[in-house]
Amino acid sequence: STVPVVTLDGPAGVGKTTLAKRLADALGVAYLDTGAMFRTLAWKLGPGAHELPEGDLRARLEGFCFALSGAGGASVLSCNGVPVGEEIRTEEVAALASRIATLPVVRERLKAAQQALGASCALVVEGRDMGTVVFPTARHKFFLDATPEERARRRCQQLEAQGQPADLATIAAQIRERDDMDRNRAVAPLRAADDAVTVDTTSLDIDGVFAELTRHINARG
Ligand code: C5P
Repeated sequence: STVPVVTLDGPAGVGKTTLAKRLADALGVAYLDTGAMFRTLAWKLGPGAHELPEGDLRARLEGFCFALSGAGGASVLSCNGVPVGEEIRTEEVAALASRIATLPVVRERLKAAQQALGASCALVVEGRDMGTVVFPTARHKFFLDATPEERARRRCQQLEAQGQPADLATIAAQIRERDDMDRNRAVAPLRAADDAVTVDTTSLDIDGVFAELTRHINARG
């Protein structure tokens, strides 16, 4: 099949990336982080992108080409031939990404790029609208959720593990703001697809969620 095998959607800090990479390894398919695509555009276009006239923005977007190489959880996303790096992994870039993610022209462009990548190989994809908009016919759709407090705690731990300063209250506020924007935008808002399996991960660890996802995948075949 040329459609992705698994879609993982959900709010920030829920553990999508860790789980998507593990699933990709287990299934022997490529892994695509669509949030990284929005972050890369946000990073490259800068804070002014939002104010550009639509025609100008559309023209700038045509200059970006995404590609996927490697395999499993180690799949590498590149933009214009350069692997996407750690520079996009800040809450500032995430906030900018969330802002440009409200623009229909940006979503259209990335949707086409995501579908093209999905047509070239089987994938585990993570994002916000994978099961609802980009890959509506995916075989396995999951929506991961957890309380905002638990997600802030996880993100905090992650940042500390990377040696980055992390203040729980600040991170909780940033996550809440970004989730509000993602849930309430007009185009492709964050929500579970009608046919997605929702997993509340609040009281589960990564192994527990992974077991739950693989159980569903094996049951459905
Ligand atoms: O997943 P990540 O936190 O890296 O995504 C950054 C932002 O990109 C999200 O807050 C969201 O606004 C946007 N995004 C999106 N649709 C996707 C993936 C990410 O709107 N499929």
